Amino acid sequence: QPSSEPLLYVNRIRRVLPDALAHLTLLEYLRCHSIFTSPKLILGHSVLFGTKDIGLTGTKLGCGEGGCGACTVMVSSYDAKSRKCSHYAVNACLAPLYSVEGMHVITVEGLGSCKRGLHSIQESMARAHGTQCGFCTPGFVMSMYALLWSSQTPPSEEQIKECLAGNLCQCTGYRPIVDAFRVFAKTSDILYTGISSLSPEEAKSICPSTGKPCSCNSNNVNDKCVVGDNRYKATSYDEVDGTKYTEKELIFPPELLLR
Ligand code: FES
Ligand code: FES
Repeated sequence: QPSSEPLLYVNRIRRVLPDALAHLTLLEYLRCHSIFTSPKLILGHSVLFGTKDIGLTGTKLGCGEGGCGACTVMVSSYDAKSRKCSHYAVNACLAPLYSVEGMHVITVEGLGSCKRGLHSIQESMARAHGTQCGFCTPGFVMSMYALLWSSQTPPSEEQIKECLAGNLCQCTGYRPIVDAFRVFAKTSDILYTGISSLSPEEAKSICPSTGKPCSCNSNNVNDKCVVGDNRYKATSYDEVDGTKYTEKELIFPPELLLR
């Protein structure tokens, strides 16, 4: 029998949504716990509703108005008609808490950690020096995570750049971040779209590994680009275990399928 309680799952953990919190955003709910541990704030109730240990501060509050992407989380929902799960990158600072009722929210804490081992996206970010002060990093990681989960096949480099368009970084200049995520791109797609409008002569200067004009003179798609390698050592998809995202590490909570 499906539960009639207002529910959401956060990083695979079941949470009952308290009443009277319509003024909260998803970000406030995820980050704060003191307001939930104070019973007097839950009007007329002295129960804590199991929310006292949320405190997931990996999701950052930057601009608070949808402009910087520091608060990005992935929200998964199930459509009973099509029987499909959809995964979206969501700005938690804009999403009202109750708008994710019945959904599964994944924050950066739900991926990897130093204790459990990094997720391949985090590992790649670290290897490519794509993080400096680190404030924007969870947002970038979650945007990439959502893209990988919503893509049936590995995305193209253009799709990766597009998915990061809502994430701002004040430190890195973006190049290392894009480099970090290029290992998840489907190189053949980049090559195909990259050379389509070029003459045969121009196409010869396109690196088959990166799909961009390059001086490496390689003509084999399986060769690593030597020029590109100088910038960033780990360019191999396998080296950062980029296959991880296709594993069924994310299981949509069965309880939410019945609602
Ligand atoms: Fe949400 Fe900036 S804090 S987009
Ligand atoms: Fe500092 Fe991106 S690493 S804002």
